[in-house]
Amino acid sequence: MKVLGFESSCDETGVALVETQPGGVPRLLAEALHSQVDMHAAYGGVVPELASRDHIRRVLPLARQVMAQAGCTLAEVDLVAYTRGPGLAGALLVGAGVAVALAAALGKPALGVHHLEGHLLSPFLATVEEGGAPEFPFVALLVSGGHTQLMQVEGVGRYTLLGETIDDAAGEAFDKSAKLLGLGYPGGPALARLAALGDEKAYPLPRPLLHSGDLDFSFAGLKTAVMTQHRKLGPAPSQAACRDLAASTQAAIVDVLVAKSLKALKETGARRLVVAGGVGANLRLRQQLDAGAARLGARVHYPPLALCTDNGAMIALAAALRLQHGLATLQTDGAFDVRPRWPLADVGAGGVAAA
Ligand code: KG4
Ligand code: ZN
Repeated sequence: MKVLGFESSCDETGVALVETQPGGVPRLLAEALHSQVDMHAAYGGVVPELASRDHIRRVLPLARQVMAQAGCTLAEVDLVAYTRGPGLAGALLVGAGVAVALAAALGKPALGVHHLEGHLLSPFLATVEEGGAPEFPFVALLVSGGHTQLMQVEGVGRYTLLGETIDDAAGEAFDKSAKLLGLGYPGGPALARLAALGDEKAYPLPRPLLHSGDLDFSFAGLKTAVMTQHRKLGPAPSQAACRDLAASTQAAIVDVLVAKSLKALKETGARRLVVAGGVGANLRLRQQLDAGAARLGARVHYPPLALCTDNGAMIALAAALRLQHGLATLQTDGAFDVRPRWPLADVGAGGVAAA
């Protein structure tokens, strides 16, 4: 079965084609992505109206590109998948509308996918050289610009929330701190680059909820602490001071993410940790998680680096895995809706209900 997937929940338009393999992990046939990052950078963050309009411009050319790359025709597509939520309503509606209309035109079913399910299953696209697909059960750390969650994953569609952020997401903490340091948007990768040159012990920053005893996170206070330190540096801080503050900030965020992830491994007895979402690209996070998990006799799985951030492959993959496991409630009536706010735990094994 060939599954064409559309992602448009935020500022990336992604389209991909995957093929299910009997008894195996679905294979990625082709994918195409357009990032709107440059367009939003001038505003210091994502402008929802501009995002929707750009998705409209990009989605069909990207779909054509994917089909050409895969050497397939649309008639060969068996299922059209799209991100149903969570995300920006207008942006989601573009992908959902195109996917459901295409499915109707082809006389094929459509399937709405949960964006975070896409992220947490994305390591299944890792090739053997990239570490291979993880085995169930595992703990998943989802760290993106909008979410910070620890999930227990027993199988496709079997997700239990272990803990989550009570305020800002980890990616937001990176982005907001980077903005304070004048690093533009999205600040995460820029802050990480600067941090690599600095001394992470230079500034004492809080590790919120580190000893809270649960698996929840909080990053809003950290942002305030970074702001306070930054003010103390005066109106024109030296480059060295900025590097040290970036390093100290990254260390504070990463320390909490690592401590809670290891706690989740200990509590669940899981031997595998899957890291997904944009912040999963952070090298310090990867190094610390690898070292910490190894001490517990556990292994960490990452999606291929290019699939850490939003993409269509993870949406096509999640739909294909649901299909393989009999967990897909297919839509054939041309109707659809989107779920801008949608807890992953609500998706469950029942599949994604038709609109
Ligand atoms: O998953 P994603 O592409 O989009 C969603 O939010 O769904 O994640 C984007 C987030 C941004 O906050 C970005 O700053 C952060 O991931 N990010 C990073 C790095 N690369 C991306 N944060 C820290 N270090 C990085 N290397
Ligand atoms: Zn995402």
